[in-house]
Amino acid sequence: MRVLVTGGAGYIGSHAVKRLDEGGHDVVAVDNLCLGHRDAVAKHIPFYETDIREKDEMVRIMKEHGIECVMHFAAFSQVGESVGDPLKYYDNNTYGSKCLIQAMDEAGVKKLVFSSTCATYGEPEEVPISETCPQSPINPYGWSKLFVERMLKDYAAANEDFAYSALRYFNVAGSAADGTIGEDHDPETHIIPVILNTALGKRDAITIFGEDYETPDGTCIRDYIHVEDLVDAHVVVMEALQAGDERYYNLGIGNGLSVKQIVDAAKKVTAIDFEVKKGERRAGDPPMLFANPSKIKREIGWEAKYTDVEKIIETAWGWFKANPDGYDDK
Ligand SMILES: NC(=O)c1ccc[n+]([C@@H]2O[C@H](COP(=O)([O-])OP(=O)(O)OC[C@H]3O[C@@H](n4cnc5c(N)ncnc54)[C@H](O)[C@@H]3O)[C@@H](O)[C@H]2O)c1
Repeated sequence: MRVLVTGGAGYIGSHAVKRLDEGGHDVVAVDNLCLGHRDAVAKHIPFYETDIREKDEMVRIMKEHGIECVMHFAAFSQVGESVGDPLKYYDNNTYGSKCLIQAMDEAGVKKLVFSSTCATYGEPEEVPISETCPQSPINPYGWSKLFVERMLKDYAAANEDFAYSALRYFNVAGSAADGTIGEDHDPETHIIPVILNTALGKRDAITIFGEDYETPDGTCIRDYIHVEDLVDAHVVVMEALQAGDERYYNLGIGNGLSVKQIVDAAKKVTAIDFEVKKGERRAGDPPMLFANPSKIKREIGWEAKYTDVEKIIETAWGWFKANPDGYDDK
């Protein structure tokens, strides 16, 4: 299939580009490089430094390459920043997606796989979280994504031949097993890279925010999915999409791990006894978030291959050790 990947130079988008290319698809990457890295995309892949809000240019690219499906990763995703600057999130994530859907409409592209998030569930009433759990975000980031889900639903209702999937990710982690690409965010807010930067000596210590939650060891529990599993799911979902389909799936491994368990696993993998500090709880951190991933398995037979967090951390550690300063293109 001919696939356009937005945010193709970002962490997850670059792994999607690689997976699509290796899977025999014709892939085109678009990224405005506000956060992404040109070096994360192999040189033989057609690459456009374009903003998804530049609708006419997006239409031109889609037509030139005869695009059949879009995988849409381009967005901002820092929860704290979204609270301080909500309009930045509604502009890029919500309005940006509207421009993209409009460009697809004009270019006649009928399939879309959208990066949604477990942040659309807010503080869930039940854990593990299934797709039918009520969605009630607790920050502008979550809302900016939920509005896109709604926009897609309404657009699909008005366009019978359109097909889409919204994939609600839990915590994405790890790097390509072959070591070619990895994670390089600035600032870095995700726990596994923050821990590994601490192990590398780039940070003094890792702080655990809250040790008095109602969880077995008192620290927050989250669900970690390997980035290669995540992008594999995107490709399998894309290949399953038929005209008129509307598919929502949670992407996690369905097993919650506490912050302390992640710290212990990272100490074991790195063999480094880095410093761990105690911090206060952060506002809006639910004690437990993990997926019920049974729907995607039941409907299209997909499940994650990486179920051992040490293996996930090993791939990330391989990348961080080889690239302590991230990509060279800064
Ligand atoms: N990383 C996670 O754990 C996680 C969890 C849930 C959902 N998500 C979602 O997955 C997607 C990818 O996340 P990521 O961690 O790879 O982020 P990332 O910041 O590494 O990648 C996003 C990419 O999009 C590009 N971009 C942003 N706005 C753009 C625009 N207007 N036009 C063109 N390019 C633009 C950035 O330059 C960057 O390369 C995001 O939509 C995010 O909300 C990520």
